[in-house]
Amino acid sequence: MSERRKYIVGNWKMNGTRDDLGEAAAIAEVASATDTVDVALCPPATLVAPMADRLAEFSIGGQDCHHAEAGAYTGSISAAMLRDAGARLVIVGHSERREGCGESDAIVRAKAERALADGLDVILCVGESKAIRDAGDAERHVTAQLAASLPASFDSARLAIAYEPIWAIGTGDVATVEDVVAMHAALRATLASRIGDDAAKIRLLYGGSVNGANAAELLAAANVDGALVGGASLTAVKFLPIIEAAA
Ligand code: G3P
Repeated sequence: MSERRKYIVGNWKMNGTRDDLGEAAAIAEVASATDTVDVALCPPATLVAPMADRLAEFSIGGQDCHHAEAGAYTGSISAAMLRDAGARLVIVGHSERREGCGESDAIVRAKAERALADGLDVILCVGESKAIRDAGDAERHVTAQLAASLPASFDSARLAIAYEPIWAIGTGDVATVEDVVAMHAALRATLASRIGDDAAKIRLLYGGSVNGANAAELLAAANVDGALVGGASLTAVKFLPIIEAAA
């Protein structure tokens, strides 16, 4: 039986205004009463401070941070700024940024190292395209992506890995439990080859069309320590069943 506490994280992506702080408060209320699951929300950067100020005990995260400490990077947000706003964690390497913003494994690694250095826990995302999955190359691709994106050194308690097959994100086409179990085992082996027994402390999250109907089966699977949830995290009515499935 895993010693790792389940971890359910909502990624609101580019959704949400101050009008949605009530949804976050409803989620935080249930989360605070659940002592077997860690819960966090990653709203747009504009809501980190308002949400952290209103929900002081709840874990709020960013969806990205720049790899530099500070400087002439118009429009970017640093890890230190997120920390100052009240964030406790940050997502790095989401496929929507790797693909959409040309973020290389090296940049993702630098972001993770910066975030850890500036006091944020990290959720590092990896995942394959449909073409790579269909070619039977998913495990090789994703484990190589993880190896190249991992910080040079890190505290295992402050890093989580999210496996998000790109073809499952936002599509309703959730990965099969068998594929998730196989990939998470490969990720755990990759981590063990780098950090030995400490690999067992790192939580592996699945993301990609998780919802209240499929969460229980996914979260009961081997090496699935939680979920990174997009669309189903935007409202309490959709997100709370996923938290309850993890409890
Ligand atoms: O980061 C989580 C996200 O990529 C998954 O999105 O909407 O398929 O749950 P969704």
